[in-house]
Amino acid sequence: MGMTPQSLAALIPPDFTLGVATAAFQIEGAVAEDGRGPSGWDAFSQQEGHIVNGDRADIACDHYHRMPEDVELLHALGVDSYRFSLSWPRIQPDGRGQVNQAGIDFYDRLLDQLLERGISPMCTLYHWDTPLPLEQAGGWLNRDTAYRLADFAGLAAEAFGDRVHRWVTINEPTTVALNGYALGIHAPGYPGLFEALPAAHHMILAHGLSIQALRSANVPGELGITNVYSPVVSARGGFANDLMVELFDILHNAMFSDPVLLGRYSDFNPLLTPFLHYLTDVSPEDLAIMSQPLDFYGLNYYFPTRIAPGSGPNTGPDAIPEGVPEHMLEDSPDLPFHITGWPQYDRTAFGWPIAPEYLAVALTEMANRYPGLPPVFITEGGASFPDVVVQDALTLEPHVADVNRISYLGDHLAAALNATAPGGPAESIDLRGYYVWTLMDNFEWAAGYSQRFGLVYVDFETQQRIPKSSYNWLQEITSLRAADTSSLRR
Ligand code: FCB
Repeated sequence: MGMTPQSLAALIPPDFTLGVATAAFQIEGAVAEDGRGPSGWDAFSQQEGHIVNGDRADIACDHYHRMPEDVELLHALGVDSYRFSLSWPRIQPDGRGQVNQAGIDFYDRLLDQLLERGISPMCTLYHWDTPLPLEQAGGWLNRDTAYRLADFAGLAAEAFGDRVHRWVTINEPTTVALNGYALGIHAPGYPGLFEALPAAHHMILAHGLSIQALRSANVPGELGITNVYSPVVSARGGFANDLMVELFDILHNAMFSDPVLLGRYSDFNPLLTPFLHYLTDVSPEDLAIMSQPLDFYGLNYYFPTRIAPGSGPNTGPDAIPEGVPEHMLEDSPDLPFHITGWPQYDRTAFGWPIAPEYLAVALTEMANRYPGLPPVFITEGGASFPDVVVQDALTLEPHVADVNRISYLGDHLAAALNATAPGGPAESIDLRGYYVWTLMDNFEWAAGYSQRFGLVYVDFETQQRIPKSSYNWLQEITSLRAADTSSLRR
């Protein structure tokens, strides 16, 4: 572990936002209560074999009922901001038309309680829970879904626009397109491979249309998107390898950031045309919508990716352990590349390599690719570990000593701050904040409850919340910093 809380706090600029992030489907539960409609993720998790241990998000952290207690946890943590998402099927069960007032009321209460405690709300419109009727009509493969999200954005602007400080249109369209529509390991479980690219296009279009809707509603909050970024490196040398690095970098990174920030899709080696032909004939009108000016850019970073040509399987020493979702990418007979592991790095419980230096690489690549980048928030970063609850010897209270998570978070935050500081490789980036993924252990999509990412441990039997050592660590950093400055942060 690198830095003490004191030295880390000293590195944080006074107006830097420290926050935590969550997503509605992963924490709320109450999936069939108070008029909420089903989502594509409800349907996906009800089908056998999709989620580890057959887990479901029906109750999750029961946050829908325990929200005031969770806001108190945020308040005691001392964070400046809370990033949460709206459950589209809770607010608009059919994905169009009729609004469910109970859903609006829930987020009204949440926003009021955050603001009463001086916590700045960052609100994500879409964090993957598509209303089921829209999913059944083709989901993101259907262009109409983009217009439905824009309508939802208008509705959200009207209901919450006076209180939301920052809006994120879509969270990680990359993951939805690749995991959901290309590989089928997330909802809706469609294994379309390269035929999934229109889903990506429609999501970026939805982003642009939603920005337009929020702007025309004159919301006072700032507007942005959240893309995940993974630097891509070559596992071995040679032309085929470089070509596959280019392909994966486009599929995972550039396909989502180029249209948003540059108003075009990436140029690519013509040899990649069989895979990327969907990106070659796009209407200038769509590109103009997709590249609306933004007030900030949200970047999620978890780990870098190593690519090798050929479909695998990878049986070498750098193989990804079985049970890790990325394992699938390692061994798909239909893909021209596979992902390999990083033997030199320790891994999280998910098998993800722990490589804070690659967050600096991510920021540097973003700075080089997009010179006009708006201010950046790292809207997610965090790690799952096999946390164990023990009884504290002194207090006899239950306790989780997650020192590995403290290292992960401290090292990544420091890497981001150093890379963007004057003289750093990404100094041109105006880095405004870092949001820890996540407040509390929750339903981790296809991994169910098997991956704990929280600063707070959740006992899913009793719903007891147990702040982990990492929670106390972040609390110490926010208070050390609060002692330093009195200005109002958002
Ligand atoms: C990100 C998602 C978030 C969570 C973390 C671990 O890709 O945005 O919901 O699952 O990974």
